[in-house]
Amino acid sequence: MKIIKTISEIQKFSNDAHKRARTIGFVPTMGFFHKGHLSLIKEARDKSDLAVVSIFVNPAQFGRGEDYEAYPRDLKRDDKLASQIGVDVIFAPEVQQMYPEGYLTFVDVGKISEILEGASRPGHFRGVTTVVTKLFNIVKPDLAFFGQKDYQQAVIIKRMVEDLNMDIRIVVLPTQREPDGLAMSSRNTYLSPRERKAAPVLFRSLMRARDMIEKGQRKSKKIMEGIKEEVASEELIRLEYVAVCDPGTLEEVNEIRKDVLIAIAAKIGKTWLIDNIIVGTPLFNEK
Ligand code: PAJ
Repeated sequence: MKIIKTISEIQKFSNDAHKRARTIGFVPTMGFFHKGHLSLIKEARDKSDLAVVSIFVNPAQFGRGEDYEAYPRDLKRDDKLASQIGVDVIFAPEVQQMYPEGYLTFVDVGKISEILEGASRPGHFRGVTTVVTKLFNIVKPDLAFFGQKDYQQAVIIKRMVEDLNMDIRIVVLPTQREPDGLAMSSRNTYLSPRERKAAPVLFRSLMRARDMIEKGQRKSKKIMEGIKEEVASEELIRLEYVAVCDPGTLEEVNEIRKDVLIAIAAKIGKTWLIDNIIVGTPLFNEK
C-alpha cells in the first residue's frame, strides 16, 4: 500500500490506472477509522480493481466553534488498518495542498443543503460538497462509497453528481453499530463513560418510532412525540432535531404513506451525534 500526500502524485496514479483500464473504487474519509469506514473500504476493494481511500479532516465543513482542532487523528493506526484490508493507496493531503492561498471556489447544492443538519450547521454541506468535488476531480474514481449514517450527505452527493454530470457511481452502505445500537462515529471517542452509556437512547428512540409505524401509527407528529419522550428519559442528552421525511427529497411529511426517513440529531455535552433509519415498504402493503 502506498501513502500519497501530493495531488500531482495521486493524479498520476489515477491516470496510469485508467490507461491500463483498471477501475478505481474510492472512499473519502476524515480518518480515525471504525467499522463503519472499514465496511466501505472492504466494499471498494471488492467492487473495483484498485481501492483508494482519502484521509483529510476538511476545515471547510467545520463551523466556527466546532471541533476541527479536536477532531481525532491517527494516521499510523489508519494506515495499518487500511493495509490489512488491502487498500492500494491512501491519499492524505495537507490543508495547504487542498486549499492553497488564493482559494475561492465552492460547490453549493441548494436547498437540500440548508435543511436538517444544514440548518443546525450552516455552511457544513457546502464544505462537504466542495471537498468531495475536489477529491473526485483528483482521484477520478469510477465508484465512490458512502455510509447511510450520514444519510443527508449521501443524498446531497448523489444530487451533485447528477446535476454536475460527474461520471461516478455512488454506492451507499448500511450504518454499522455498536452492540448496544449506537451508530459508530469517530466522534464517539469524545464521550465520557456516563455519556457513552446514555448515547444508545438515540437508536432506541428510532426503534420506538419504527415500532409505532409498524403498529399502524401514520401521523408524523405522533412519531416525533414518541422519539422526544424516549430521548427525554436520558437527562444528559439534548435533542437538536427530529424529522420524518421523504427519503428521496428529504422533504418533511405529515402523513406516512410510503417509505420514510426518520432522522435525528442530539448533543451530549459538547458532542454532536446523528442517526437515522428508513422505515421500509413491506409495511405498506397492508389493505
Ligand atoms: P467521515 O465522517 O470520516 O465518514 C466517512 C464515510 O464513512 C462517510 O461516507 C460516512 O457516512 C461513513 N460512515 C461514518 N460512520 C459510519 C457508520 N457507522 N456506518 C457506516 N458508514 C459510516 O463523512 C465524512 O467523513 C466527510 O464528510 C467526507 C465525506 C469525507 C468529506 O469530508
